[in-house]
Amino acid sequence: MPNLIVPGAGGFIGVNLLRRIMFDRQFDRFERFVLIDPLSYGTQTIPQEVLADSRVRFERASIYTPGLVADLVGPGDVVIHLAAEINTADSPQMGVADDPVGYLRALTDARIGRLLFVSTADVYGINDSDDLTETDPVHPTTLYAAAKAAFEAYLSAFHARDGLPVVVLRPVTIYGPHQQPGWLVPVAITRALAGESIAIYGDGTARRDWIHVYDMCEVLVRGALTEAEVHGQVFNVGTGTEETVAALVHRIIDSVADPRVVVEYTAARPGDPPRQITSASKARHAFGWSPSRTLSAGLEHTIDAYRRAHTG
Ligand SMILES: NC(=O)c1ccc[n+]([C@@H]2O[C@H](COP(=O)([O-])OP(=O)(O)OC[C@H]3O[C@@H](n4cnc5c(N)ncnc54)[C@H](O)[C@@H]3O)[C@@H](O)[C@H]2O)c1
Repeated sequence: MPNLIVPGAGGFIGVNLLRRIMFDRQFDRFERFVLIDPLSYGTQTIPQEVLADSRVRFERASIYTPGLVADLVGPGDVVIHLAAEINTADSPQMGVADDPVGYLRALTDARIGRLLFVSTADVYGINDSDDLTETDPVHPTTLYAAAKAAFEAYLSAFHARDGLPVVVLRPVTIYGPHQQPGWLVPVAITRALAGESIAIYGDGTARRDWIHVYDMCEVLVRGALTEAEVHGQVFNVGTGTEETVAALVHRIIDSVADPRVVVEYTAARPGDPPRQITSASKARHAFGWSPSRTLSAGLEHTIDAYRRAHTG
């Protein structure tokens, strides 16, 4: 039986995904869940209930460790690649010691069944599109997006040259429980619950499509299991609705309703796209998937989760 391999399993999406799939009978087709993550930021973990499962093997290591893939990955395995250094958005996700080509060569040699690679809608950079589509030009404006676009280019070459069965997802901004501290939604909720001011980069007019992590996990489930012809393809992942950064922060402030919480505007970050939205119609069609949480319901759910964690 094949294994399910999850590089980056200890992060925000990884922990939510593990909780989503571990007890789903559809995943009984996998003999083992092989989780690979160096847990290097100090804030991530693999949940105890996951580690306690006899099917789980956890390797605390970088996926780019020489020889690791050859040891752990075999024919027919499905790899859901979440690994990235996204806590340092200004740094490339691939460090100088990382070897994506060696990694992809090892996956090719292992004759895996599928590599589902989580890229980002940031690869589109600054654009005026009302609805980003997968054929829109890729034009990274941050090092993070450039690293993702470079990885996608390697995937394209390995697919064309060696038949590596790859699928690329380009999600918009994801939010929900267990996100690493430092990102807008967890920062805003944590500070609002503590009665502190919230900083916004720029004037807050940047428009974003926000998707709840449970909806993201659902498209990962479909992408991992689908029998449809999806190899070599790219899929945007979003809700098709938008909200400005300032309006999102005000939703959180209104929900927490503490008069001490105010917004402070700080310098804009260079390269931040003013707009990023996609209805993800290709993913909806291919995977029979659609996001089920509105921003309002998803934010309330997330605020509740942080409130429960906050009050212990
Ligand atoms: N959170 C978002 O809004 C968002 C949006 C679009 C795309 N993504 C992508 O989704 C993926 C997961 O994001 P997240 O929000 O869970 O981030 P995260 O930082 O919470 O998790 C990433 C995990 O990858 C691990 N990792 C880093 N380098 C690794 C390596 N060399 N080998 C193995 N593991 C490694 C980290 O330790 C971390 O646990 C990333 O690839 C990210 O670029 C996230």
